[in-house]
Amino acid sequence: PDNLRELSQKTKVFIGSAVDVTALADESDYRRTLNREFTHITAENAMKWESVEPERGRFTWEGADAVVRNAMRNDQKVRGHTLVWHNQIPAWLTAGVADGSIDAAELRGILRDHIFKEVGRYRGKIRAWDVVNEVVDDEGNMRQTIWLEKLGPGYIADAFRWAHQADPHAKLYINDYNIEWNAAKIATTLNIVKDLKAKRVPIHGVGFQGHLGIQYDYPADFPSVMKQFTDLGLEAAITEADVRMVLPVTPEKLATQADYYKRMLTTCADNRRCVEFTVWGYTDRHSWVPGWFTGEGAACVFDENLAPKPAYNALLTVR
Ligand code: XIL
Repeated sequence: PDNLRELSQKTKVFIGSAVDVTALADESDYRRTLNREFTHITAENAMKWESVEPERGRFTWEGADAVVRNAMRNDQKVRGHTLVWHNQIPAWLTAGVADGSIDAAELRGILRDHIFKEVGRYRGKIRAWDVVNEVVDDEGNMRQTIWLEKLGPGYIADAFRWAHQADPHAKLYINDYNIEWNAAKIATTLNIVKDLKAKRVPIHGVGFQGHLGIQYDYPADFPSVMKQFTDLGLEAAITEADVRMVLPVTPEKLATQADYYKRMLTTCADNRRCVEFTVWGYTDRHSWVPGWFTGEGAACVFDENLAPKPAYNALLTVR
C-alpha cells in the first residue's frame, strides 16, 4: 500500500483520525491529507456536550455537522465522541448540579434529552458512538462523577438504552484509556460489560484509547486483553492512538515510536473483531499532547509540515 487508505482496504481495518474542526475549515493542506489518508473520522472536540450546548437550550452543531459532512463527501465512517463523560460538560450543567438547582430527577431527564437529541440528529450517519467515556478510574473503581453520584451506577445502562433507541443501527461503545494494560481497570471494565450483557443492554464494542508514551514499556499484553473483551462478543476499536515522547525528538525515539504504532495496529489487524484504528490527530501541527503533558510532544504519525514520520512508514508495513 502507498498510503493509509490503501492499507485500510488491505487490512480491512478502518484507519481513522481525530479532526480539529478549525484546521479542517482553514487549512487546505490539512484537509487534503486527512481525506487522502483516512477512512474514518472522529471529532476531537466538536461533538462533546460543551461544544454542542454551551448554554442550556442553545445548540451549536456547526462543528459537528462539518465533520459529518466531510465524512460523507470523502467516503469516511464517523465515530461519535462522546455522550457521557465527566469532562467538557457545559458550565451551566456543572453549576446547576453544584448549587442544587438541578436535582437528580431533572439531571436524568437532561442526560436522556442530550442523548436523544445528539444521536438522533446524526441517526444513520454515525458508525459507532462512544456512549460512555472513562467511567472507571485507575484504581479500578467506578469513577466518581456527577453521573454516578446523582444517578447511581444504572446511568450506564440507561445511556446505552437511550442511544440505541435514538439510532438502532449505530454500534455502541464503552471507551477508556489505560485498559490496554491496567489490570484493575481492565477487570472492572470487563465486569461492567458482562453485567450489561446479562441485562441485555445494547452494548456492542470496546474502545481502547491507546494513548501511549515511549518512556513507558509497550503494553505487551494488549493482544490478550483485547481478546478478553472480544471473547465476550464485543467488537473492538483503538480509538485515540498516539505515542508521545519526552522532547527533544531524536532518530532513536522516532524509531521506538514507529514500533509502538506498528504493534498497536497489528494488535487490531490480528483480531478478527477489531474493526477500527483511529489516531488522536494525525499531525504534530495539531495535537493535544504538548498542551497536556509538560515537556512531551511529537506524538503523531505526520510532522508539523505534514511530512510522514517513521511511524507512518511502519504502519504501511502491517500485514
Ligand atoms: C482532548 C482533546 O484532544 C483536547 O483538544 C481537549 O482540550 C481535551 O480533550 N481522552 C478523550 C478525548 O476521550 O476526548 C480527549 O481529547 C483526550 C483524552
